[in-house]
Amino acid sequence: MWRASVLTLFPEMFPGPLGVSLAGKALASGAWALDVTDIRDFATDKHRSVDDTPAGGGPGMVMKADVLGRAIDATAQDTAQDMAQDTRPRLLMSPRGVPLTQARVEALTAGPGAVLVCGRFEGVDERVIVARGLEEVSIGDYVLSGGEIAAMALIDACVRLLPGVMGAQASSAEESFADGLLEYPHYTRPQLWEGRPIPEVLTSGDHGKIAAWRRAEAERLTGERRPDLWAAFLRRFRSGSRMG
Ligand code: ADE
Repeated sequence: MWRASVLTLFPEMFPGPLGVSLAGKALASGAWALDVTDIRDFATDKHRSVDDTPAGGGPGMVMKADVLGRAIDATAQDTAQDMAQDTRPRLLMSPRGVPLTQARVEALTAGPGAVLVCGRFEGVDERVIVARGLEEVSIGDYVLSGGEIAAMALIDACVRLLPGVMGAQASSAEESFADGLLEYPHYTRPQLWEGRPIPEVLTSGDHGKIAAWRRAEAERLTGERRPDLWAAFLRRFRSGSRMG
């Protein structure tokens, strides 16, 4: 079973949104498993401290390597009772990480699951990142107050791709992304709403014309909103036509 193990200082945030809708139903039906570890349980001093001031000075606090190291080792040991060995990738949610992509989500979904460490404070002692092989992952170029919401986003993106979770709705969204284009606009009844009609081509019944219109709209939106994706699309298109 695909298993997400989350390490956090705020275990009460989970399952949160992962407990409702598609992901929640799949969790209840046993399509995936979630366990949550409170990093603070691995503090040993009387104040149960999990952070300390940065070596070299500066603002903020740094998550301690010893406490987080013990939390990670305990999670691996617990999981090894279910899996022969915990071979899951260990991710550290961080704005400094490699940006998450749909391709990475697909690769994670195809594996046994993931261990997700949620950072807080200014950062995490670099030694535990290296020693426990944590791979830093970012969900975008903005700074959240901690890794928890990022971990939820990653888990949600993976879980919806698990076999049977989306059922027949397995949507065109991924296909569209796989193509490297954004999705075309959608419409449904009523035919006329606040004076705005559904584009005529969509009610024409001409499936060839409809496909061509959708493709043109997808290309227009990608060019307008995502010059990075559009440039990559054009590069692929040109090298593809050279080869063909
Ligand atoms: N933690 C704080 N900001 C983050 C981001 N953008 N992605 C992943 N984890 C984060």
